[in-house]
Amino acid sequence: MSQFLDVAIEIAREAGTILRSEFDRPKQISYKGEVDIVTESDRRSEALIVSHLRKHFPDHGIIAEEGGTGAAAGAKYCWHVDPLDGTTNFAHGYPCFAVSIGLAEEGRPIAGVVFDPVANEMFTAARGEGASLNGKAIHVSPIEKLAHSLVATGFPTHHRKRSANINYYWEFTLRSHGVRRDGSAALDLCSVACGRFEAYWEFNLHSWDSAAGVLLVEEAGGRVTDMNGEPYRLGGPHTLATNGRIHGEMQEIALIAERAATTS
Ligand code: IPD
Ligand code: CA
Ligand code: CA
Repeated sequence: MSQFLDVAIEIAREAGTILRSEFDRPKQISYKGEVDIVTESDRRSEALIVSHLRKHFPDHGIIAEEGGTGAAAGAKYCWHVDPLDGTTNFAHGYPCFAVSIGLAEEGRPIAGVVFDPVANEMFTAARGEGASLNGKAIHVSPIEKLAHSLVATGFPTHHRKRSANINYYWEFTLRSHGVRRDGSAALDLCSVACGRFEAYWEFNLHSWDSAAGVLLVEEAGGRVTDMNGEPYRLGGPHTLATNGRIHGEMQEIALIAERAATTS
């Protein structure tokens, strides 16, 4: 396992260094959807990550956001790569973005790296071996109640008009210290893992957004399921990641929000 993780760490650092150096320069933006943007930096970062992964692990699958692939789908091991999570932030000069690289074995994350090159924070996890930030073990927060919690969510750039998440945002805002919407799912998950947030939820994440982050949360002692408490599935319709202690309360409020969304 450490062989996989060490390579992923090295690649994430190299890709993050590219992003950091390009962050201060004018960006070339193009549109994949109505507000779904992509920059040249997304593509450069992905090209670097995918070429290294292919070289090190030629028989592994690769699913990368901008289209990079590896060995035939159905491979036992598959890398889920987000070369730049937080593209909208990056394009606007808001310093909240990361490289996210997760390895799944038959669909189950087993190694993950998220690197924030602005803060120089390297989050890493391996299944059964714990989670760390810059080499030091991290743990989820000990807070027991939603009322004492800081939580986070995100709004995908696709499915915008159909999202009921604004109802969730409102219900959780009323019942917590606040809801953050920082624009990087991978870093939101890392913030749960290291105890900055007690919980994070989102709808319609892709496997590359969450493969590394969900493992970080689990290995830091937290819990990740869908909003109904069912086992988490990469690419599933909704994600709920918490410190474990407020998981039940999050699900209860989610039900209230869901009812409000269907009656409004
Ligand atoms: C997005 C970010 C954002 C989340 C969206 C993702 P991208 O990823 O993680 O926080 O709300 O769902 O698509 O497009 O910046 O890689
Ligand atoms: Ca993403
Ligand atoms: Ca991305």
